[in-house]
Amino acid sequence: MTAVTSPRGGEIACEDLVRIFSAEGVEVQALQGLTLHVEAGDLVAVVGASGSGKSTLLTILSGLDTPSAGRVSVAGTDLLTLRGKRRVDYQRHTVGFVWQQTSRNLLPYLTAAENVALPMVLAGTDPGARVDELLELLQVAHCRDRLPATMSGGEQQRVAIAVAVANAPRVLLADEPTGELDEATSAEVLETLRAVNRELGVTVLIVTHDPAVSEHVRRTVQIRDGRTATEVLRRRETDEHGEERHIAEEFAVLDRVGRMQLPQDFVKALELKDRVRLTLEPDHAGVWPDRKEDA
Ligand SMILES: Nc1ncnc2c1ncn2[C@@H]1O[C@H](COP(=O)(O)OP(=O)(O)O)[C@@H](O)[C@H]1O
Ligand SMILES: [Mg+2]
Repeated sequence: MTAVTSPRGGEIACEDLVRIFSAEGVEVQALQGLTLHVEAGDLVAVVGASGSGKSTLLTILSGLDTPSAGRVSVAGTDLLTLRGKRRVDYQRHTVGFVWQQTSRNLLPYLTAAENVALPMVLAGTDPGARVDELLELLQVAHCRDRLPATMSGGEQQRVAIAVAVANAPRVLLADEPTGELDEATSAEVLETLRAVNRELGVTVLIVTHDPAVSEHVRRTVQIRDGRTATEVLRRRETDEHGEERHIAEEFAVLDRVGRMQLPQDFVKALELKDRVRLTLEPDHAGVWPDRKEDA
């Protein structure tokens, strides 16, 4: 495990994001200083257990909610000062979303083609040939004239992705897009998200509780208790026998002021508690348990 400092800026830039909800006098810290940077054109998964703050993060990135503290910008738009018409424009043109509930993504009384055309019509542009091009790209051309209720869950989510990218957003946000699908159908939907990322150049952020999603993306960020904890980068390497190998390397995320979370298994294995002893070596830092008998 190695530590990496998040590069500043990026197409999606979150610094020390905090979101506190107060419900009936009880405070819930959904995000507790989350830092995340995503480069333009990247496809990234944010994986975390239920309740770790994933939907809270996406709701903020989609411009539907504002953080209690911290900084956040998407495609150069500062979301903290976004109001009124600029907010509507942002939601219509800069970001697209796909939600977990297939029913939330599509209007039930419109066909696939009409659903995809709608965002363009609302934005005052002529859909022209784009509807069929998008249905083709997402491999749901056969659903063109069908209502959502007559399509499978996977087909509905692929049409939903076409709707989300209809107005050519720079960033596509997907909240558990495969949450209601079986494994094989999930894999298909993830592959279509990859195709959209590759063919349209849109930056894609997927949040999910499903660790299997990380096998479909180059970069996975793990979120724990409202903070980004670790990152896994995947790449392919060809060895001396010409065999292709998949390499996954895990990193800890270091924030602007140098804080990081030690992985749970490190904490358990060394029985780390309360405080640890640190040493600075020429090329690494050491972490030791603080045991009285060692002193
Ligand atoms: N509107 C809200 N009011 C009060 N608490 C909320 C609200 N939205 C989310 N929470 C709480 O914030 C935490 C994170 O929720 P969420 O972002 O939905 O997590 P995830 O999507 O990872 O399951 C949870 O404890 C949840 O109960
Ligand atoms: Mg959620």
